[in-house]
Amino acid sequence: MRDYVIECHNLETAYAAALNRPILNGINCQIKRGEFVVLLGLNGAGKSTLLRSLVGLVPLVRGKIQINGVTLAPRTLPAIRRDVGMLFQGGGLIRQLSAIENVLCGRLDTRTTWQTLFGFPKHDRLLALELLEQLGLKELANQKTSQLSGGQQQRVAIARALIQSPQILLADEPITGLDAIACQQVMQTLSELHSQQGMTIVAVLHDLGIAAEYAQRAIVIDAGRIVYNGPCDNLQAKFSQV
Ligand SMILES: Nc1ncnc2c1ncn2[C@@H]1O[C@H](COP(=O)(O)OP(=O)(O)OP(=O)(O)O)[C@@H](O)[C@H]1O
Ligand SMILES: [Mg+2]
Repeated sequence: MRDYVIECHNLETAYAAALNRPILNGINCQIKRGEFVVLLGLNGAGKSTLLRSLVGLVPLVRGKIQINGVTLAPRTLPAIRRDVGMLFQGGGLIRQLSAIENVLCGRLDTRTTWQTLFGFPKHDRLLALELLEQLGLKELANQKTSQLSGGQQQRVAIARALIQSPQILLADEPITGLDAIACQQVMQTLSELHSQQGMTIVAVLHDLGIAAEYAQRAIVIDAGRIVYNGPCDNLQAKFSQV
């Protein structure tokens, strides 16, 4: 088995006139199997763009991404997306649907349009329910997502990312806007996925203290480039504002 599950070689996006440079401007990094890495940086640094590029949502003009040794390309994307779960900034849930229906949406790309018309099979529904139960949301499975709190919504988004049983979880600001207890619950969930299931986790955070508490390594991005890649000790002293 390969040591590195994510390899980014010199990633560069198209020139962005508003920035006077490409959004990602020569990103090189490697992430090992089972690592918990935190991605830090100021607003607009390029953190979300980098995470989104790892699941083929950002066109690159240069560079190469390899996931488990497989180069990301239109042909390899469906398989890569099965291995990589993504938690989008702001949750990305469909507010009109219930919690369980949102979780089941994580299964949509494994089904044809025809199959979707007949609803999800029972084993998928049971799996979705099991995930919601693990995340402490069983009682709220049929509640409309718009009627859940921010922390509960974030956990529904985690369940949706997990229903594919990914090996890698990319979490874009999973705790932004949550209160201290919800923050801790969500970070604890990520930490357990990492320690108990060996999941590789890359999370964008803005809190240096939480980053140091949970992550093994920090990557700091500034203006589309990596400016720090190393241990989480003393992040506060090195970067007062990220
Ligand atoms: N689709 C797009 N087209 C043009 N510019 C974009 C696009 N998406 C993002 N940008 C710009 O690219 C830069 C990086 O955006 P990105 O969302 O990656 O930042 P971020 O580091 O995630 O910031 P935040 O902490 O605010 O979430 C920003 O200046 C943003 O305005
Ligand atoms: Mg972002």
